[in-house]
Amino acid sequence: MDLKKKFEGKSVLITGASSGIGAALAREFAKMGAKVALAARRLDRLEALNRELTSLGRSSVVLECDVTREGDVESAARRTRESFGKIDIVVANAGYGVVGNVEGISLTDFSNQFETNVFGVLRTFYATYEDLKRSRGTLVLLGSVASYISLPGAAPYSMSKFAVRALARALREELKPHGISVVLISPGFVESDIRRVDNLGKLHPESEDPLPHWIKMPAETAARKILAAVARKKPEEIITFHGKLAVWIERHFPKLISYFAGRGAKGRPEPGRD
Ligand SMILES: NC(=O)c1ccc[n+]([C@@H]2O[C@H](COP(=O)([O-])OP(=O)(O)OC[C@H]3O[C@@H](n4cnc5c(N)ncnc54)[C@H](OP(=O)(O)O)[C@@H]3O)[C@@H](O)[C@H]2O)c1
Repeated sequence: MDLKKKFEGKSVLITGASSGIGAALAREFAKMGAKVALAARRLDRLEALNRELTSLGRSSVVLECDVTREGDVESAARRTRESFGKIDIVVANAGYGVVGNVEGISLTDFSNQFETNVFGVLRTFYATYEDLKRSRGTLVLLGSVASYISLPGAAPYSMSKFAVRALARALREELKPHGISVVLISPGFVESDIRRVDNLGKLHPESEDPLPHWIKMPAETAARKILAAVARKKPEEIITFHGKLAVWIERHFPKLISYFAGRGAKGRPEPGRD
């Protein structure tokens, strides 16, 4: 499929565009001729990405936006409309992971996790729904392999991503009559900052990602696969070979996952506390 033909001139709003998968998606959409609206909290990073894209002759706009703050996504959507005249594709990508065994964390940790990963996605949906209706556009939701498999030490994150998958499933049918496609992306391990962010959503750049390099897919590769799935309006795409394998095992041999989970599998430590 000719992705340039597919995305040329499209207006794409991406939350969490300052890092990792979101930033890689912005580069890839821009490369395909789309206009990209870059939304996140860290303006310095967004501005650097904006300069990079502008210097390559691409169209982009920087939008300061905290998906947990009432009104922020609405103004991001308004500014995207003002800049590009419409919104064709919305990528609800902003997210992070709270870690720890349930007994060692608090309700506030769960609530923070849901504010960003679940209510942030819902805020993004409500702020852009009318735009997508007008453009008969596409809503892309970032789930995770963790939306199929819940392991010790990662309950808040898995719960939030199970919720995103449930939302995608329902929205897919609800939005069909309006011509809006819903694409759920469920990545396995992808190179990004996510494992350097603590339970409050703060980045610890000095902290080491506990995962070995070889298991992580580069964010650029993940972004290319995501664009291909969006172009095809695939209802769901699991990214990474290990991710596909894990979901397959969970579907067909769930006891195998329980067996490994029960054999000392424990989550990663919280960055900044190790
Ligand atoms: N990398 C993986 O292995 C992996 C696997 C499965 C799913 N995912 C999902 O992929 C998505 C992107 O994560 P990533 O891996 O690219 O991590 P990342 O490098 O840490 O990027 C996360 C992005 O989310 C933004 N963000 C976080 N909280 C936000 C808030 N309250 N408001 C607005 N933006 C916020 C961050 O920007 P600011 O801090 O500047 O706001 C950043 O741009 C997440 O939904 C994650 O759950 C990742």
